[in-house]
Amino acid sequence: MAIPDGTTFKTEVDDLLHETRVFQVPSLFHNLANIKNDSLYAKAKTDRVAFWEECAKKLHWTTPWKQALIWEKPFAKWFVGGKINASYNCLDRHIKANLGNKTALIWEGENGEERTFSYAESYLEVNKLANAIKSLGIKKGDRVAIYMPMVPEAVFAMLACARIGAIHTVVFGGFSAEALRDRINDAQAKLLITADGGFRRGNIVPLKNIADTALEQTPGIQDVIVVQRSKAEVAMKRGRDHWYHDVVRNVKPYCEPEAMDSEDVLFILYTSGTTGKPKGIVHSTGGYLTGVYNTTHWVFDLKPNDIFWCTADVGWVTGHSYAVYGPMSNAATQILYEGAPDFPERDRFWRIIEKYKVTILYTAPTAIRAFMKWGDQWPKGCNLGSLRLLGSVGEPINPEAWMWYYENIGGQKCPIVDTWWQTETGAIMITTLPGVTPMKPGSAGKPLPGIDAEILNEEGQIIPAGGGFLSLTSPWPSMLRGIWGDPQRYKETYWGRWQGKNYFAGDGTKRDKDGYFWFLGRVDDIMLVAGHNISTSEVESALVDNPMVAEAAVVGVKDDIKGQAIAAFVILKEGHKLNAKTEEILKEHVSQKIGALARPSRIIFTADVPKTRSGKIMRRLLRDIAEGRVLGDITTLADAGIVAALKEKYQEA
Ligand code: WT7
Repeated sequence: MAIPDGTTFKTEVDDLLHETRVFQVPSLFHNLANIKNDSLYAKAKTDRVAFWEECAKKLHWTTPWKQALIWEKPFAKWFVGGKINASYNCLDRHIKANLGNKTALIWEGENGEERTFSYAESYLEVNKLANAIKSLGIKKGDRVAIYMPMVPEAVFAMLACARIGAIHTVVFGGFSAEALRDRINDAQAKLLITADGGFRRGNIVPLKNIADTALEQTPGIQDVIVVQRSKAEVAMKRGRDHWYHDVVRNVKPYCEPEAMDSEDVLFILYTSGTTGKPKGIVHSTGGYLTGVYNTTHWVFDLKPNDIFWCTADVGWVTGHSYAVYGPMSNAATQILYEGAPDFPERDRFWRIIEKYKVTILYTAPTAIRAFMKWGDQWPKGCNLGSLRLLGSVGEPINPEAWMWYYENIGGQKCPIVDTWWQTETGAIMITTLPGVTPMKPGSAGKPLPGIDAEILNEEGQIIPAGGGFLSLTSPWPSMLRGIWGDPQRYKETYWGRWQGKNYFAGDGTKRDKDGYFWFLGRVDDIMLVAGHNISTSEVESALVDNPMVAEAAVVGVKDDIKGQAIAAFVILKEGHKLNAKTEEILKEHVSQKIGALARPSRIIFTADVPKTRSGKIMRRLLRDIAEGRVLGDITTLADAGIVAALKEKYQEA
């Protein structure tokens, strides 16, 4: 959604604002909350940097920092000179505090298997794997790619890398061989950690086979560690491939954690950019950990007895920050579930909550909308009484889904935290404090203590009320440190819009009279499909990669469940006739190139796509066409006739 110039424009949110109900914090929750009042905001306002220093001190540092912040816009350094290890903060520290017997992970496989690991057991696993990785020659600063199902070993692999100072780059298990290959090569990873397969809706996802295809074109990879999960037959290349259970067998049970510089890279995580090439978002060690540790405590109100469940895959930033580093640095007990929410039945989530007495659930609007569609009977059949707090992330949650979540899952007694943040921000930026801030369904709330956010217009001026572009206006500890290998792209993407003055988040946002932020969707060419970032150009390149396709234009269109679905306008090359299979072949082609998450939900074959005179695809117009809206001003079109033809085509398709 592009934001028109000026400070006032009308959106669906305006209609919403009129009828917004405000939900007060339940008094029982307030009374017991970690954060009960506004004092954190006040403290952060007085001295923002000192506030973050106090937050950082809650972690274990082996050497204190000399300087809290060096801000050479757009590059920030936090806690400069400090030494810290993320794995130590997620494991050793808790064992030293007598929490070794506390359950860290409760894993449930899709077929119902259960494995639990205490902090002491997790510690042992991580130490052994760290030694095994080291013995393969991996050193501090080397990159390790992780391509795994949701199994405990995925978490151990991340922490083992962190322990020795290797930089992990987790690639979501739903990505294709090509997507994996490109990420491995961009990061120049030396080691890949994967599995023989994972279970999803009763099927085995053949991760190792997919990885083998990728590895044909990854000259840097020297070794592969393979977790045996599915027991599916896989090829093991002699000298390169090693079973996980073999490499951890004869290694020492202790590995000294590497003293990392606060600014040393903890991980790289790829996210879609507005060009076809994904961006390797770089995160630091000290600042990142400060962000996720503290936000977990504030926003999820985490207490020692909680059973915390963030349903995100470790392949996304939510999995990094709130299924690994945030909760584990807080010594949380967490659920890790391998499979699909509708396997074997549509009540799988509710059964897990009932079985393990989950107290905090953090999931995505797309899942909530699917649950809504499946019907109330599924959650009603389970006892969800253990829940005390709910969270939402990934895209704006529509008030209808919010209400359903509040009533049917939370039993009207659980606050909901609608958390706005990004891969780039590392940690939650804008949300309500569950024990303090009243909730407005559809609004994420306000910037957290220590976070400065403003809404800016095209010229970069602050808009006190009304709509514009979201910007984070002061550096924060968990902010990205750049794009791997491409500082120029970092500057252009995030700092280009206002001549280097302010961070451009890419979200259209509106602030109401109470200072609450309402998110309106992306203003760039990034789609949010089931909460996942996919760029239009990424899908376009995948389409034109097929020999039949001359040109493609992709847009995100409204979808009741996924938030956005992918619609593609395709021009076939001359000589290629459209037949009954063409659409399916092209959809499959995109799945193969990127992964099933990028599969277009529909393809419209056309003779031309609307472009401006300078040759830019008019996506807004295509979106209007695809969503069946009235056409706006089309005088800038090279051939205005095209649009009418397209619209007709779409409607008959
Ligand atoms: C984009 C970032 C944050 C982890 C998962 C996604 C959208 C995310 C919300 C929310 C409205 C949201 C934004 C943002 N987004 N959470 N609560 N309300 N929009 O991380 O893949 O980096 O995507 O997701 O558009 O920019 P990501």
